Formats: sequence, C-alpha cells, structure tokens
Amino acid sequence: MRSAAGCADVRIQSFLSEADERSLANDVLDGLTRPFKEIPPKHFYDARGSELFERICELPEYYPTRAEREILHASAEAIVSRTGAGELVELGSGSAEKARILLAAMSTAGTLRRYVPLDVSERALEAAALELVDEFDELSVHGVIGDFERHLNRVPGPAAGGTPRIVALLGGTIGNFPPGTRRRLLREIGRLLEPHDRLLLGTDLVKDPAVLEAAYDDADGVTAEFNRNVLHVINRELEADFVPDAFEHIAFFDRRHEWIEMRLRARRPCSVLVAGLGLRVEFAAGEELRTEISAKFTRPRLEADFQAAGLALDQWFTDGDGLFALSLARRL
Ligand SMILES: C[S@@+](CC[C@H](N)C(=O)[O-])C[C@H]1O[C@@H](n2cnc3c(N)ncnc32)[C@H](O)[C@@H]1O
Repeated sequence: MRSAAGCADVRIQSFLSEADERSLANDVLDGLTRPFKEIPPKHFYDARGSELFERICELPEYYPTRAEREILHASAEAIVSRTGAGELVELGSGSAEKARILLAAMSTAGTLRRYVPLDVSERALEAAALELVDEFDELSVHGVIGDFERHLNRVPGPAAGGTPRIVALLGGTIGNFPPGTRRRLLREIGRLLEPHDRLLLGTDLVKDPAVLEAAYDDADGVTAEFNRNVLHVINRELEADFVPDAFEHIAFFDRRHEWIEMRLRARRPCSVLVAGLGLRVEFAAGEELRTEISAKFTRPRLEADFQAAGLALDQWFTDGDGLFALSLARRL
C-alpha cells in the first residue's frame, strides 16, 4: 500500500501485476481462438480508453451519463438520508464524476467519511482520488486498483466506527455481463453488504432501438475509436500487430436479447501475430470480433436478477424521460 503523491488522506493499493494485468493474455488466448471471436470490454480501459470513454459521456447521442447524473442530482439527498451512509464504495469508478454528487450529499448531511473506488484504470483512479480529497476536507480515499471480477475480497472492510455504506456500480456497467455472469457478480457484490448497507446500481433501460444504436455509434466516431482501442491495447501489451483501421466499428441492438453489441469487423482478410502469446490469428474479410454487450433492462427483469442474486429492490429512481434507472437494493 502507498500514499498517492504524498497525500495523507489517500491510500491506493494495486492488485494488478504487470504479468497478469487485467487477465488480458488469458482473455486474448481464449477469445481469439474461438469460432466466434470475443474480447471482454474491461480491456478497453487503458489510460487512452478511459479518456475516450469520458469523451463519449459528453456526446449528444450518449444519453446514459446525462440521465444518470440527472437522477443522482435529484435523488442523492434522499438516498443519503434513507441510508445514513457515510462511505461510498464504487466499483468501476472511472473519473468518479457521479461519485462526487453522492459524496457532496453525504458532506451536506454531515456523514461523509470515506470513498473506496475500485477500477482497472490506475490513472483515472489516482487522478479522481487526489481531486476528491482536495474538494472534501473530511474525506479519506482508499483506492483499489483491481478487477471487480477477481478482487472484491480486496475491498477494505467498513471504516472504524462503522458508518453504513453504499456500494455503487454505475454507468450501466452491469449490462456488460450476460445474464448468468451478471447474477453471479451481483451475488458476489451482495456479500460486501452488511444489513444496513445498500447497493446502488445504474442500469440503462429498454427503449427505441434507433436511440440506443445512435448512443453506441456517434457521428464523430469517438465510440468507433474507443472500440478499436482494444486492438491498440493488445498490440502494446502482447506485442501484436493488429492494424486497427483495418477493422470497422459495428453497433446494433439485438432485439431478442435486448442488448447492444459492439463488434469490430475485418474490412479485408487479416493475419495477426500476437507475438507475446506465440499466436497467429486469421480474420476472414467481414469476420467480426465481439467487444461488448450492453444489456438494457426493465424493472421486472432487474427484480428477477436481484432475486436470483439474493438481493431485493428497495427503491427505484428514473430520469424525467425514463431512459435510465438507479436502483437501491439490499441483501436478503
Ligand atoms: C462504463 S465505464 C463507467 C465509469 C463510471 N462509473 C461512470 O458511471 O461514468 C466502466 C468503468 O469500469 C471500469 N471497469 C470495467 N471493467 C472492470 C473490471 N472488471 N474491474 C474493475 N473496473 C472495471 C472501467 O475502467 C471504467 O472506468
């Protein structure tokens, strides 16, 4: 454990070693040797990927961030007064822009103690931690650089003195997991909750496919660049020779599963060497690599997921246009 930039109120622990950083090698070996190629979306988020995601959040087509912020601005005070929370654990914290709204509500309520961000992106986490301790005098930050699929057991226990905690997973990140994995992850997250703690979960809602598809295929091509970033990550980390521009960005709404899929489609036949793995991978012209699913929810579907994960919905908040939902849930 170390203090970041000599700041006494910030401690950051890293559980991602150079060797198994974000389990990229395993995922590439597994995902690129399947008949239908696939790489999990957590590998988008190196420093450049995190920056591109921040740009996506400001795009006119990308309504989820605006909608979720609107809900938080309208409901943070109620969430804090209902839970009495003084500590926020945030999984996949990114720039912590939304955390700031909850921390401000805790500060106003006089309960604010600690923020525990967990993210695979070291640079985003460190920058956010330093900004937040500057902004809130009473705040300490205990950051965890890790993978929430593998390192939930590294989340520190409640701060001494035991204030209720909110464990948040925002930004619709839970939608990146197919139903079985999603329920397992929710169950594991639920294990972090004491009886007085609550899960705060952000989920994008089912809506007009045209609106959904535009959100993942913006006119400026920022999402396309974000999508191709995974190829830059593989090139750098595993000495591969992907030509990212040889792959076209694809985003479509799968009506049967009610999820968005992002894929990269080879514009021409490509033979790629992943030297770090001693692996050669062939792409036929038009062959696709799936890089993300982003499931869209209805309230009944989410309640069923909670039930299967040993959780129960306490309160449901949506924005004025009903685009996005925040759920407050407890452990059964
Ligand atoms: C869709 S962004 C959401 C960021 C922020 N919570 C928000 O709502 O704007 C997903 C974030 O989760 C992080 N992330 C994705 N998969 C992760 C994993 N398996 N473990 C830890 N962090 C992860 C990414 O680095 C990124 O910061």
